[in-house]
Amino acid sequence: KPAANEGKTAVLKVGTEPSFAPFEFQDEKSKDYAGFDMDLIRAIGKQMGAEVEIQSMGFDGLIPALEAGNIDVAVSGMTITEERTQKVNFSKPYYKSGLTVVVKTGNSSIKGFGDLEGKKIGAQIGTTGAEEAKKIKNAQVREFNTPPEAFMELKAGGVDAVINDKPVNDYFMKETGSKDAQQVGEPLTAEDYGIAMSKKNTELADKINKALDELKQNGEYDKIYEKWFGK
Ligand code: ARG
Repeated sequence: KPAANEGKTAVLKVGTEPSFAPFEFQDEKSKDYAGFDMDLIRAIGKQMGAEVEIQSMGFDGLIPALEAGNIDVAVSGMTITEERTQKVNFSKPYYKSGLTVVVKTGNSSIKGFGDLEGKKIGAQIGTTGAEEAKKIKNAQVREFNTPPEAFMELKAGGVDAVINDKPVNDYFMKETGSKDAQQVGEPLTAEDYGIAMSKKNTELADKINKALDELKQNGEYDKIYEKWFGK
């Protein structure tokens, strides 16, 4: 392991909002950060010869933390968007995603994005899901700190629907949510996740992209993918 003082990237400070399984979450027993993103950034760190230090923060705090230099990268299922690209650099895309709608089991009036006009919609604060919700005519949008909180409010009847990333909704349905909730309709968007970095550190972007390429070539990326998503 390189010493912490051996150079700029000897320690890679990673920020994430860890209530986004299977991309980032805290293991119940060990309290360790687990998930696809966490395995990926640890593998990238290893490839770069850097020690990965993960810290948790609100999703809407990640870009400000990059801008302030408090973290080196944000790895948090973050969609590469035009608006974010004005503020931060992104790595090459590493995962293809999109948004879907989740409703309470038995709700037969909402069958997809087309039925959300005038509805109460929950989403995680600062996300593309919240942004899309705000575009829907007459919708009352409530933003929650985490997706699980939005799902809880759905169960309680406080919102009619939740807009959130499909792979996270899939995982939620599989693990816990399927008694109370169901995912409806086709994905609204095609989104790419990227690793976000400060615009000041262009050298880091090159290193991260190189490591990502190497992990794709040597089969490590596929291993991590299969661990969390199957073949
Ligand atoms: N992909 C969405 C976005 O970029 C949601 C990401 C939320 N990530 C998280 N770790 N909570 O806005």
